[in-house]
Amino acid sequence: MATTLSTLAYLVASVLFILALRGLSHPETSRTGNMYGMIGMGIAILATLFKPGMGFGGITLIVAGLAIGGTVGTIVAQRIQMTALPQLVAAFHSLVGMAAVFVAAAAFYAPESFGIGTRGHIHGQSLVEMSLGLAIGAITFSGSVIAFAKLAGKMSGAPITFNGQHWLNLGLGILLLVLVITFVATGNGLLFWLIAILSFALGFLLIIPIGGADMPVVVSMLNSYSGWAAAGIGFTIGNLLLIVTGALVGASGAILSYIMCKGMNRSIINVLLGGFGSEGGTAAAGGGDADRPPVKAGSPEDAAYMMKNAQKIIIVPGYGMAVAQAQQVLREMADLLKKEGAEIKYAIHPVAGRMPGHMNVLLAEANVPYDEVFELEEINPEFADADVAFVIGANDVTNPAAKTDKSSAIYGMPILDVERAKTVFFVKRGMASGYAGVENELFYRPNTMMLFGDAKKVTQEVVQALQR
Ligand code: TAP
Repeated sequence: MATTLSTLAYLVASVLFILALRGLSHPETSRTGNMYGMIGMGIAILATLFKPGMGFGGITLIVAGLAIGGTVGTIVAQRIQMTALPQLVAAFHSLVGMAAVFVAAAAFYAPESFGIGTRGHIHGQSLVEMSLGLAIGAITFSGSVIAFAKLAGKMSGAPITFNGQHWLNLGLGILLLVLVITFVATGNGLLFWLIAILSFALGFLLIIPIGGADMPVVVSMLNSYSGWAAAGIGFTIGNLLLIVTGALVGASGAILSYIMCKGMNRSIINVLLGGFGSEGGTAAAGGGDADRPPVKAGSPEDAAYMMKNAQKIIIVPGYGMAVAQAQQVLREMADLLKKEGAEIKYAIHPVAGRMPGHMNVLLAEANVPYDEVFELEEINPEFADADVAFVIGANDVTNPAAKTDKSSAIYGMPILDVERAKTVFFVKRGMASGYAGVENELFYRPNTMMLFGDAKKVTQEVVQALQR
């Protein structure tokens, strides 16, 4: 009876997790989706605590783990800056990977506790599951640590490449496969640790050559790996819910990686093998070309005047808007312009900001109506008949080098065609390049006007000018 109840609870939790993912697929239903996820997790925890055979010791350990992990998680979540979320997510992925490694080690050294045989005589199927969980977990761990360091600026975001890198990765991948097969056949302890060491190295090697504008794919790919690592743990400890949940995260992460690849115009195979985006990309020219025309800098008053007289304005938010937390005042500006009779649309590039959906979340937080927010393919044809493109803290996602400069690190990435608008305003603090380190020649175009300053401050001043 108790077993049936626990299985039923796990089933309900699985369905709730699926509903959560479905809800999270659209901003309007995302809150409900989150709610489903939280209820599902609550049921999962209770069902695990009251699982048949769970003694007092087991419950105490789980509660202690929840208390320690929950406290650390709460403190981190309260202190974290919105702009540091991407590296936090990478750090969390690394923990899932390490958990998979620990669970595999526990199962290897105490198989009796997991009901998978005895020391030295572990069931063949369990050895397969254990070695896969171990390998994926270790790759996820070291890959995520490198992603964390790159996103947090603790190491250079530039691709680290060397001759024969792809062959080395391929060779190590084949060696890993041979080790896993031999381990499954022999159950040898030394092989267990060799698999772990090789996988840690592979995770490191797969992520170091990815850099610059290609990091979004890394984030979603590691998300997927962490899901598969969790599913691996589920197999090892014989927990159906963990298998289902891990597979859901793994599959949705894989779909997200695919979407990101499409957004970046990259091939998923190159991503999986590692080292894409490293082919001959060049970084910023930095100081700029002496022959360039001088940039035209305007004031918030100029921008307010021109936008007051505009009929169609497309707003392009980017990472700088997130840094400045300018979304609220941006919406105020849009409201005032709408009162003046302008049509307002927001253009979202799939990799704008530093994490998938970054801009959508911020605009939703500022209560920007969803029907004013458009994806790249929908909005691009509209720039040609826009009077103003108001680019706020975005840079790489507008850079035409992606279309014209084959040697550029962002070459091939679809971009928002802001330059086709009659006037383009760039709100940013200076002439710095974006995350990919590629100079943006749009700043020098005759139809561009730079509005130098912090995005929130400049937009506030535009609002004040509009109110005068
Ligand atoms: P970026 O190209 O990074 O440009 C952001 C610009 O914002 C910078 O040039 C910066 O110029 C400006 N800025 C920074 N703080 C500001 C502030 N307080 N006020 C005003 N401006 C400020 O951003 P993007 O166009 O959104 O493109 C995203 C980039 O990040 C892409 O290369 C993408 O591949 C990469 N990336 C994305 C993700 C995901 S999943 N979205 C993950 C990792 C990396 P100043 O310093 O001159 O102000």
